Amino acid sequence: MTHEPSSLAAAHEGRAAAAWDLVRALSDHAATLTAAAPQAFALNDAGALIPVAPGDATAVAEWQQGGGWRLTAGVDPALASLVDLYLPICSATPTRPITLGHLGQSLDGFIATHSGDSQFVTGEENLRHMHRLRALCDAVIVGAGTVAADDPRLTTRHVPGPNPLRVVIDPMARLAGDYHVFQDGEAPTLYVYVRRYVTGHAPAPGRAEVLAVGDGPNGVDLAALVTHLRDRGCARIFVEGGGVTVSAFLAAGLLDRVQVAVAPLFIGGGRPAFRLPAADLLRECARPAYRVYRMGGDMLFDCDLRASADGADDGAIARVL
Ligand SMILES: NC(=O)c1ccc[n+]([C@@H]2O[C@H](COP(=O)([O-])OP(=O)(O)OC[C@H]3O[C@@H](n4cnc5c(N)ncnc54)[C@H](OP(=O)(O)O)[C@@H]3O)[C@@H](O)[C@H]2O)c1
Repeated sequence: MTHEPSSLAAAHEGRAAAAWDLVRALSDHAATLTAAAPQAFALNDAGALIPVAPGDATAVAEWQQGGGWRLTAGVDPALASLVDLYLPICSATPTRPITLGHLGQSLDGFIATHSGDSQFVTGEENLRHMHRLRALCDAVIVGAGTVAADDPRLTTRHVPGPNPLRVVIDPMARLAGDYHVFQDGEAPTLYVYVRRYVTGHAPAPGRAEVLAVGDGPNGVDLAALVTHLRDRGCARIFVEGGGVTVSAFLAAGLLDRVQVAVAPLFIGGGRPAFRLPAADLLRECARPAYRVYRMGGDMLFDCDLRASADGADDGAIARVL
């Protein structure tokens, strides 16, 4: 049987939408699950999760206290890899929070050219992935360099789902107040600067709420910022970029996972993805457990920084819808 390209594309979109609906249902359900025993869930005709007995053949996912969500045999195999990618985030709750970083880089390790041109290093599927991460997380963090270069909106306009709290780290309070995140009102924005670097009036960019923090080992007391965000209910934090900001969170040991999407292009020079303290010996280097997902022409490494690579995932490549 042959298929028209348009019917294949429609089927693909339908599967991606169904998988995303399941991801959101699992995400929303996590905070309500408190029982110590494993709990299993199936999908009803309306696509809502309904409890079933553990081991039930129709169960699509099981919740394990302390371990979070795991997919079960009843899930449609065509949806499984997309759902699986997001389970660590869907499993995070106020008592088991998560902070995740993501960068899209070239084969030679850059996220933008010297001039700051970065739209886009990775492809459309990775862009949609970033919007999904925003939708699943309570807060999205970017550095001032990203706001200055891209004037991003940091919303979820490419996928159904809520906008997160937008957090901009501008240590020396250099940004003007006319960027989207400070003016558009599409989601709340928290503007963070370092108290010591600013004398005189506190900055007040547009409609943003302002938070002054101390300076830490990487210029900003990021641990204090994470504590502040947790205290206001942000169990899931997404550090979206740029390289300076994701590297600072990584170096400070504040990331639970880091995702690196590698795109098949060479930039030759520009803004580096990771800037980390150099190791002398390869045996001293961090080798996290990882999973690999294909997104169009890009390869996404999903690294679990709380697990060692020894005996962990086999790194098999799964195609994300
Ligand atoms: N591919 C991706 O995944 C991805 C994601 C996000 C962003 N990007 C790109 O990455 C680049 C930004 O990344 P980055 O590592 O350079 O910085 P960043 O992590 O976004 O921001 C960190 C630092 O940028 C500095 N900064 C640079 N230019 C600035 C300006 N004009 N105004 C205010 N502060 C400025 C600030 O440091 P000081 O005040 O200490 O100087 C700030 O603390 C942009 O080109 C953006 O398009 C790529």
